[in-house]
Amino acid sequence: MITCKIFGEPIETDAVCDELETISYVDASKDLHSDEDIIFNGAKSFLKFSYPLLKDDIVYGLGETMGGINKRGRSYVSYNTDDPHHRDSMKSMYGAHNFFVIDGETSVGYFFDSPARITFDVDVENSCRVDVTVETLDLKLYNIVGESAYDVTKQFLNIIGRSFVPPLWAFGYGQSRWGYKNHKDIDEVISNYQKVGIPLDYVCLDIDYMDRYIDFTVNEKRFPDMKEYVWEKKRTGIHLVPIVDAGIKVEPGNETYETGVKNGFFSTNEDDNPFQAAVWPGMTHFPDFFQKEAREWFGNEYHKLTDLGFEGFWNDMNEPSIFYSEYSTKQSRLDQALDFLMPSRAEKKEGSKNNSYHDYHHFYHKVEKKRMCHHDVHNLFGAFMTRASGEGLQKLLPNRYLLFSRSSYIGAHKYGGIWTGDNHSSFAMLRQNLIHMASLNMCGFLYTGADTGGFGGNCSRELMLRWLAFSDFTPLMRNHSAIGTKKQECYRYKRTDDFKRVIALRYRLLPYIYSEFMKALIHKDMYMKPLGFVYPKDEKARRVEDQLMVGEGIMIAPILEAGETHRSVYLPEEMVHVRFDGENFYEDVMPKGDSLITVPLNEVVFFIRKDHSIVVTRHLSMNTAQLDLRDVKPIGYDVDYDQYIDDGYSKLTN
Ligand code: NOJ
Repeated sequence: MITCKIFGEPIETDAVCDELETISYVDASKDLHSDEDIIFNGAKSFLKFSYPLLKDDIVYGLGETMGGINKRGRSYVSYNTDDPHHRDSMKSMYGAHNFFVIDGETSVGYFFDSPARITFDVDVENSCRVDVTVETLDLKLYNIVGESAYDVTKQFLNIIGRSFVPPLWAFGYGQSRWGYKNHKDIDEVISNYQKVGIPLDYVCLDIDYMDRYIDFTVNEKRFPDMKEYVWEKKRTGIHLVPIVDAGIKVEPGNETYETGVKNGFFSTNEDDNPFQAAVWPGMTHFPDFFQKEAREWFGNEYHKLTDLGFEGFWNDMNEPSIFYSEYSTKQSRLDQALDFLMPSRAEKKEGSKNNSYHDYHHFYHKVEKKRMCHHDVHNLFGAFMTRASGEGLQKLLPNRYLLFSRSSYIGAHKYGGIWTGDNHSSFAMLRQNLIHMASLNMCGFLYTGADTGGFGGNCSRELMLRWLAFSDFTPLMRNHSAIGTKKQECYRYKRTDDFKRVIALRYRLLPYIYSEFMKALIHKDMYMKPLGFVYPKDEKARRVEDQLMVGEGIMIAPILEAGETHRSVYLPEEMVHVRFDGENFYEDVMPKGDSLITVPLNEVVFFIRKDHSIVVTRHLSMNTAQLDLRDVKPIGYDVDYDQYIDDGYSKLTN
């Protein structure tokens, strides 16, 4: 059962599909002073809500946030930030995913549909409450009652609509690095992967492919014939995936800039002139993604890239990132420098009140014909960029496209996936990756993954192998790193055969991964789930924070600690324990309960649920173009596997 209380005049966020019969709408504005759950703070005009927690309740959800699968014991702030210092105490990240479920004797979900800044204090200092502060009086608050956390989540996924449908090649292994300068660098990456026999499906082009970081341009010195180059790579089964940033360079002669100015498609400042702020290309204007016409225009700009043959894109810097502006110049730069040098200083700042916070109060959007300050709709900016790109790409390309974005809000999952931003090379970040997969799937973001190996810092051989062994199961499996860090392409490490073994599992498992992903997508379900969603009556399974269910049939328990080759695993039921050594699958039945497993650095271990089977390919392919989804054999229990198969590129018809 779903009810939606409407407070004030909320703007359309595109998160929930309109006027569904399953939802009963209630005008709640009248209740402001009388409803016991709501405290109206007249001075600051915030809405406050409070929900009691029982001792054993678990709070699931909140998408891209730090903390565990169980969100109890922390504060989270929905206010999208580009803060690259990912750390345990961080309250905000790149996305605002305001959905959580309180699960215990009863299961109830809440979705706070507002782009405003929202704070979730979840059992902070053992308060036994979830306190939610919404910094606006305009809100749609969805309340979903169900039989279990999983049931509530499925009802939620049903009302937010089907996730973006990626092409099959997007499930291959991708290599990326900020710093590949030209076609020679890219060729070197591809040929080195080929030399060591590790499969590869795509290579990402970071900002250096552009002419002076200007969106929708190509640096012709670095890529003299990009169109031919893109097609040449596609003929060998490799896709190139260029980055697109949110800011458009202010420069006469830059066609995107000129059209944007002429048509009033940019966000404005107090004087109603286009707002200016510096990002990679220097001074930029930000498209006003809140205007439908601006979205159509921006989406169509991708034709400059699709005309060259590109079919995959990643949208970046769309919180939006601002290096400086006239509002925050000197102080901000000093502040940024100090934060960079002293991360503990940055940590002390209240959740996400980063350097751009001031800027966000100085620019405006046209939202449903009203002029609104960016701050009040901040959390939707990146999502609406994704919406613009996705809607544009739908029109421009006859087949499916790949798109993943950094900033997001629930609703953007319909147009693209997300990656979880600038993590760093540590086992703690690998663990966080696992946690994010569960909570992001709850919010509709099925196509997601982290920078495998870590973006910042230097990735050791051990960490890369362990991370790949986890990323084998995440839909987006991309190795990406920052300029200036140790290069982390797999062929750079010693004994590349070990890397081949671990990545080979991904390709051997692809028929299952693709089938389970597509079934989850079509049935508006989750692809990766916490154990408690599948075994709600098993108190021990509900508390597991370092294992996940992958599709209907698999449970994983990756190694998440440095120096470990063993770990304990909890099996909520008897399962088949599968070891893959690069060539063969070895199966043995393990009983319900706790077990200790051994996972050498060059092996991957996973489990098949009781009375389930999965399918794996008979042979290893070097990319998805060579993959035959039908040439499979079953493993696991002796039951049929219901495999979903399609051509991997045609758009879904309904
Ligand atoms: C920030 C992104 O998060 C990162 O992935 C990218 O490499 C840099 N911007 C440079 O474009």
